[in-house]
Amino acid sequence: MTDLKAQYRSIKKDVNFAARQVLNGCAFVLGKQVAVFEEAVSRYQGVKYAVGVASGTDALALALCACGIKDGDEVITTPFTFIATAEAIFRAGAKPVFCDIKEDYNIDADKIESRITPKTKAILPVHLYGLPCDMDKIMALAAKYRLKVIEDCAQSFGSEYKSRKTGAIGSCGALSFFPSKNLGCYGDGGMVVTNNKDIREKLVMLRNHGSDSKYHYSMHGFNSRLDTLQAAILNVKIKHIDKWVYRRIVNAGLYNRLLGLSRNIVTPEIPKGVKHSFNYYTIRLKEGRAAVQERLKKRKIPWAVYYPLCLHLQPVYKKLNYKRGDFPVAEQMQEEVLSLPMYPELKAVQIKHIAKAVLN
Ligand SMILES: Cc1ncc(COP(=O)(O)O)c(C=O)c1O
Repeated sequence: MTDLKAQYRSIKKDVNFAARQVLNGCAFVLGKQVAVFEEAVSRYQGVKYAVGVASGTDALALALCACGIKDGDEVITTPFTFIATAEAIFRAGAKPVFCDIKEDYNIDADKIESRITPKTKAILPVHLYGLPCDMDKIMALAAKYRLKVIEDCAQSFGSEYKSRKTGAIGSCGALSFFPSKNLGCYGDGGMVVTNNKDIREKLVMLRNHGSDSKYHYSMHGFNSRLDTLQAAILNVKIKHIDKWVYRRIVNAGLYNRLLGLSRNIVTPEIPKGVKHSFNYYTIRLKEGRAAVQERLKKRKIPWAVYYPLCLHLQPVYKKLNYKRGDFPVAEQMQEEVLSLPMYPELKAVQIKHIAKAVLN
């Protein structure tokens, strides 16, 4: 689905140099490269603060805790996402309350209000595949009911909503640097971005066992720091991010032109005022998905289904008492979506070959 080796080859010299500097310096935890990368991300995101953590999942969990989400609270989110979104809500002690999505795969902002109860404390929109959610509506609801908004930007590094980066709109944004993300490191990594000083200060303590000064703890925390080695690699990679996101957009445009000819295929639409960063290129097959999957497999073309079973139907969340039919749009999408290879180094000739295999 992605070609990490091709990307590494293109930046090998700089990455190796940066890694060697860390190895020689031996400041492996919270070394200076972490602060440099936090500064680079806050500038890129157009926010005041960025706090590096160990993964995107931790970024969500720590962001929720820093926003004051705790036992007994409810957080509204989408059932059509990676499990980490809901997992982080549980880790903060709260309960995920799912809300159906729209046919663009993101939470349906018009349905959120009906899911709000006196226990609701936050909304957690996920910018799925890289497409920003309807943030104006979400922020208006959050203001009306005094809710926090934690944006899950794991798949949307580089995406914009009305000229603002995703993650810079809500109370905080959670980023993932998992290798396959738009900005991926060579292991696990994550970050929380925010404009709120109080949230930033809590995050700095939370990632370091709740410590406010050496061996003095004022809250329950986590061991969740971004490795210096990963930060050093990311400092090299962030310099290329705009070019890489641009290549993803160009590649998606070519897929759209080739696949949009079929009446059976719904290609991703990009609403006005939005920049989609295409972490994944996902189409919808109204019928015959299994036959297309089989054809791709025979021609050794990878594909993936993000996600084949909505979270409200997962065995692990049985105790939440949802049932099939609760979120009909999400349940329909799980049967129809298909993601195709997508990465900056993907060539036009490869896209044409893949599109041909999808079509016949
Ligand atoms: C939507 C979403 N949220 C959260 C995460 C968690 O990120 P990480 O793998 O860095 O923990 C992912 C990662 O795949 C994701 O896709």
